[in-house]
Amino acid sequence: MGQGKKLLTASSPIEDYVKWGNTWPDAPFIRHLTLGNMEVLLVNTPEAHREVLQTHCYSFRKPDILYRLVGEIIGRGLLFTEGEEHKKQRRILAGLFSASSIKRMLPIFHEKARSLTKFLEQGLDENRRVTFEAVDAFSKMTIDVVGVTVLGVELGNLSASDKKMDFLKCYHRLFNQSPLGALIGFVNIYVPVRKWLPIEANLGFIRANADLRRMVSTCVRERVQEIEGKQRRQQAEGKAKGGDVDGDGGRDLLTMMVEERRNFKKEDELTEEDMVNHLLTFLAAGHETTASAMTWAAYILATKPGVQDKIRAEISAVLATSANAEPDLAEIERLHYLNNFCREVLRLFSPAISSYREAVSDMTICGTFVPKGTAMLIVPAVTSLARASWGDDVGEFVPERWDLLESPGSKNPYAVGAFMHGPRVCIAKHFSLVEFKALLIDAVRSFRFLPGPQLEALAGRLPAVDNPALAFRPKGGLHIALEKI
Ligand code: HEM
Repeated sequence: MGQGKKLLTASSPIEDYVKWGNTWPDAPFIRHLTLGNMEVLLVNTPEAHREVLQTHCYSFRKPDILYRLVGEIIGRGLLFTEGEEHKKQRRILAGLFSASSIKRMLPIFHEKARSLTKFLEQGLDENRRVTFEAVDAFSKMTIDVVGVTVLGVELGNLSASDKKMDFLKCYHRLFNQSPLGALIGFVNIYVPVRKWLPIEANLGFIRANADLRRMVSTCVRERVQEIEGKQRRQQAEGKAKGGDVDGDGGRDLLTMMVEERRNFKKEDELTEEDMVNHLLTFLAAGHETTASAMTWAAYILATKPGVQDKIRAEISAVLATSANAEPDLAEIERLHYLNNFCREVLRLFSPAISSYREAVSDMTICGTFVPKGTAMLIVPAVTSLARASWGDDVGEFVPERWDLLESPGSKNPYAVGAFMHGPRVCIAKHFSLVEFKALLIDAVRSFRFLPGPQLEALAGRLPAVDNPALAFRPKGGLHIALEKI
């Protein structure tokens, strides 16, 4: 069992790692044994993070075990490509997350934030108050956001309309399995039993996975037909516009991929299968992470009233001199306190819990010999909750710390890592920061956040957290009260 049992039964999936990091703050790595007596090095100091994620990035690969654990759901997209192939895919996909693309997506973020407001307003009582469960509501909102921004499809989780494609239900079935289903998933990492077991706990997983792939494949096939049909017609009429058939720069990531793929060199052209895999990755990587960030932001807003007042005042001041009803990208960039707020939420509650790497060759890092095959564990919380970097108030929510010149966050980017670093840093880092801010802006302008009975009963203690889990989120949900402004 090594430390495995202890880690899996801890009150939070990061608790022990953070404790170890603070006990041995100068050790670049913390060696431990986990399930099956597997030896793992926890990457500890900011310098060790820089060496593993930046300097020696391509001397590591994602271990096969990780693909066998979540690869079926996430697809063999960017997250699971390696070396030269990864560099090539990253180059091909970078444009999707450019500043101009984010600018086009911003109205969608605002619109989905308004949908959540309307959804919550339906439950207001005579005192104009409503209590909502944050994990569920924000998952619905963020899956609707990726539905439109990634696939160009209205998924309708926040509206009463019929859901033609229920991605959320599939993800729910895949990530909330029965104990037997979870055991099959675990055994499947070592022995591929999945396709041989005709029992319901396994079949449910297989069906949900197949549904997910089928829905994305249908979107890709239909969009390829639609766009290539338009491109052929435009060419025949002698008014070809290049890839961009509607002259709008592409309304979603799938459309942009299809429009652009003919402009790539032959060997770089994305096949339909490539697109399905990339889109599955964007959908999975892009909704629970942002939902987790929104949930913890709501927790802070509900428990620290002064903070929401400051955010509201800052938004009002920017909009007072603007012709817009909602802040545009440049105005969002000017919301300095909101920016500090978001950075501090992501520092204290990193949505991504961990990632693994495996050394593909022998190397020496921070004076430690790392033989080929060594497993490395990266836990963003280990640096962002390190007392040695952040001081004794490391666990406190202090957005102002980001303004101090001596702040570790300003001095050393590796002192935090919610999006990780280097060539494999989250490709959607700026996209999701803008999304996070846009969703918060509407929420804070529409409602006053209040603790509600669940948080009052906790009296300042943090809610319990899911463990094991893929995203950092409160166990059993988080109920927050809102008052309409
Ligand atoms: C608050 C929101 C988000 C957080 C905290 C986050 C965090 C991360 C982290 C930590 C990684 C590195 C994983 C690793 O190397 O093992 C990553 C990679 C990635 N993320 Fe995000 N992510 C967020 C939102 C998104 C969104 C919205 C999308 C897509 C629409 C996305 C797509 C990806 C992809 C494709 C990768 C793989 C990058 C590569 O290996 O080159 N993420 N993300």
